[in-house]
Amino acid sequence: MLKVTVFKDERTLARALATQIAATLNETPDLVLGLPTGRTPVRLYHDLGTLHADLSRATTFNLDEFLGIGPDHPGSYRAFMAHHLFSRVNIAPERIHVLNGAAPDPEGECGRYERAVAGAGGIGLQLLGIGTNGHIGFNEPARELAARTHRVVLKESTRRSNAALFGGDLSLVPREGLSMGMATILQARRIVLMATGKSKARSVELAVRGPITTKLPASFLQLHPAVELMLDEAAAGLLGEHATF
Ligand code: F6R
Repeated sequence: MLKVTVFKDERTLARALATQIAATLNETPDLVLGLPTGRTPVRLYHDLGTLHADLSRATTFNLDEFLGIGPDHPGSYRAFMAHHLFSRVNIAPERIHVLNGAAPDPEGECGRYERAVAGAGGIGLQLLGIGTNGHIGFNEPARELAARTHRVVLKESTRRSNAALFGGDLSLVPREGLSMGMATILQARRIVLMATGKSKARSVELAVRGPITTKLPASFLQLHPAVELMLDEAAAGLLGEHATF
């Protein structure tokens, strides 16, 4: 059974995790962090700034990026990260890694990224969100999952939940993305998945209790020896009784 910690609300969760990450950075200044975008980590990223977490020697790798738009595009995950985290902390720009959605050779870009992760010594702490359909990064439910960083056709539901980054216009949301694969993610030494809100309760329940299946990529986390799910009460709503922090 995956380790689950339940917090009374999103604010408490974000503060607890930010405090924990800041402490980890004090002990391990050259920590390699894997990072998600999305609504869920926004408060955490702001709290890392407020707590003056020291990322001066840390390295980051983002999970995924849209294909067909460059890092300067305001809808890119690179721009999202700059706004919500990188501009708020003291990370060295050369140690920030985000897949380049405008790379002329997307498959080559995926290979380059895998080598960069390996070259940094692998990911020490991988943070994750979860889709309402159980996706992780852009690893969507499918008959097969790609192990390594790859090019992916986005599901309509994923494009819709990202429309806000493109002024609410679904037609502007790219149809493809680049994403770390499940094996890349599962090679991280430690993983923390955050989920908040009732809309995540079902995918969280299936990730924890369901069969391990490519139809719910998050279920593969059951195979990892050091995963923690940090949830608010709403996201933990289908898991039964838990102590709440
Ligand atoms: C994005 C990512 C996605 C999100 C997921 C949840 O980098 O990894 O898998 O974590 O779509 O998104 P939010 O947090 O917006 O509910």
